[in-house]
Amino acid sequence: MITGKFPSLRLRRSRKRDWSRRLIQENNLTPNDFILPIFIIDGKNKKQPIKSMPDVYRYTLDKLSFVVDKAIKKKLPMVALFPHTELRKKNSLGSEALNEDNLVCRAIQLIKKKFKNEIGIMCDVALDPYTSHGHDGLLSSGYVLNDETINVLINQSLLQAQMGCDVLAPSDMMDGRIGMIRKSLDKNGYKMTQILSYAIKYASSFYEPFRNAVGSRGLLKGNKKNYQMDFRNSDEALREVALDINEGADMVMVKPGLPYLDIIKLVKEKFKIPVMAYQVSGEYSLLSNAINKGLINKQAITESLIAFKRSGANAIVSYYADRLDKILE
Ligand code: PBG
Repeated sequence: MITGKFPSLRLRRSRKRDWSRRLIQENNLTPNDFILPIFIIDGKNKKQPIKSMPDVYRYTLDKLSFVVDKAIKKKLPMVALFPHTELRKKNSLGSEALNEDNLVCRAIQLIKKKFKNEIGIMCDVALDPYTSHGHDGLLSSGYVLNDETINVLINQSLLQAQMGCDVLAPSDMMDGRIGMIRKSLDKNGYKMTQILSYAIKYASSFYEPFRNAVGSRGLLKGNKKNYQMDFRNSDEALREVALDINEGADMVMVKPGLPYLDIIKLVKEKFKIPVMAYQVSGEYSLLSNAINKGLINKQAITESLIAFKRSGANAIVSYYADRLDKILE
């Protein structure tokens, strides 16, 4: 019960001094709360700026160790790898996803060889970095096929698990894929490979800078509304999570982040499962550009990230994760 009455109770009393404000803080951020996304690209000795995302870069594999080493030193628990695939390697079936010599596979092996289990590796399971149409699955007359896509995703998951990926993160939104991926992982000796399901992924405008970062933006035909969720819905989000838990998801993702704090809170309260939230590229770019222009001050970043914690997220995927020491205040 919340009680108290003015004037014997004055909430401003405990806000008066800095030490007192620190004493009553209810939420805080530590490096354990973050997952760092890393964009990778073919070639040599490149750190390529991404126009749509200030201070975020694509790295060639010879520079990857340096980035991962920094993440380990900063005590981040996990990195998420995202490949920028050359146009000539894309086709309508996204078959590069199953090439054991593709960028992601090489990156996983490199990190595992050098850093063992000092840091977790998470990889997306979806075809959009590899398809010439930019969709997450196989396309037939503009519609993304469900069961046919899952067959490819199972193989993509197995391949990434074989390479040493610790956490598979299906971000494709096909129905039933978690159960089928779990089953094939178990059957093939990958019982301990974790699944972080992007259970709740809304069809959102906030992904656009990311599509530019992975090179799928100009390619995408139409939109992703026939598989990603309608942002008007929240009951449906809970049904998605319930299904994925039954199918074997270890953790779930809510994405985007800040516009969906109500969903994070609902999922946490209802299911008591580890909930990750993705502060997506559009959220990042809006904040960073506004700060760079002097429209708002940089404490807005801490304010936004704390909001994720307040709502109940266990961890946050954030493009700020490698600069927390300079940002959090
Ligand atoms: C693709 C994928 C997307 C993001 C992560 N994985 C984009 C999309 O679905 O179009 C977005 C991440 C971001 O915006 O930061 N499966």
